[in-house]
Amino acid sequence: MTTDPHPWAANLAELHDQAWLRLVRGVADRRAPARYPTLATVSPHGWPESRTVVLRAADPAAGVVEVHTDALSDKMAGLDMVPRAALHVWEASAHLQIRLQVQVAILTGAEAEATWNALPQQTRHSYGTRPAPGQPIPEALAYAKPADPSRFAILRCEVQRMDLLHLGPDHRRARFDREDVWAGCWLAP
Ligand SMILES: Cc1cc2nc3c(=O)[nH]c(=O)nc-3n(C[C@H](O)[C@H](O)[C@H](O)COP(=O)(O)O)c2cc1C
Repeated sequence: MTTDPHPWAANLAELHDQAWLRLVRGVADRRAPARYPTLATVSPHGWPESRTVVLRAADPAAGVVEVHTDALSDKMAGLDMVPRAALHVWEASAHLQIRLQVQVAILTGAEAEATWNALPQQTRHSYGTRPAPGQPIPEALAYAKPADPSRFAILRCEVQRMDLLHLGPDHRRARFDREDVWAGCWLAP
């Protein structure tokens, strides 16, 4: 008889807890899969756009995760029009796919100041590239990376829906909604 290495996947509340546990671990552990989720947004022309980001905060009680970005990066134009996004993580060792649908609040300036002040100097250089990210340049290295606090943006992502797929000996899929206070329901995988 094979024992299921992930008994938590059979219980809605435990499955939900496991997903948050792994998101929280992603913030703290550079080697955790949830450290680098894919963030998907919709461009102003309706194109899906996805890119790798670093997960900077995860608060299970509030149902909020955070990502940091350059305020002039292309994703911001999409988020200005449609402040919604999706985040995707594949936790291979847990056989768990985590998909989040989030409502995004963009924090800059005074709202982001305390977080900026706590950033290591080398990290600050990720925010302020000149010319702005995505602009054409004549040569590959024809850019500068000054640290510019006015270009630092926190994407505060309030989770509205979590879709979890566990590929164990049996496949299980569940959806958890904020409006149902995360009660969860099973879905056909
Ligand atoms: C491992 C890795 C981590 C990254 N982390 C971030 C990040 O935390 N924030 C960010 O804005 N871009 C991050 N990027 C760069 C994005 O993937 C992307 O190239 C950049 O944000 C521009 O995307 P945009 O033009 O769609 O706005 C990361 C890329 C990689 C490969």
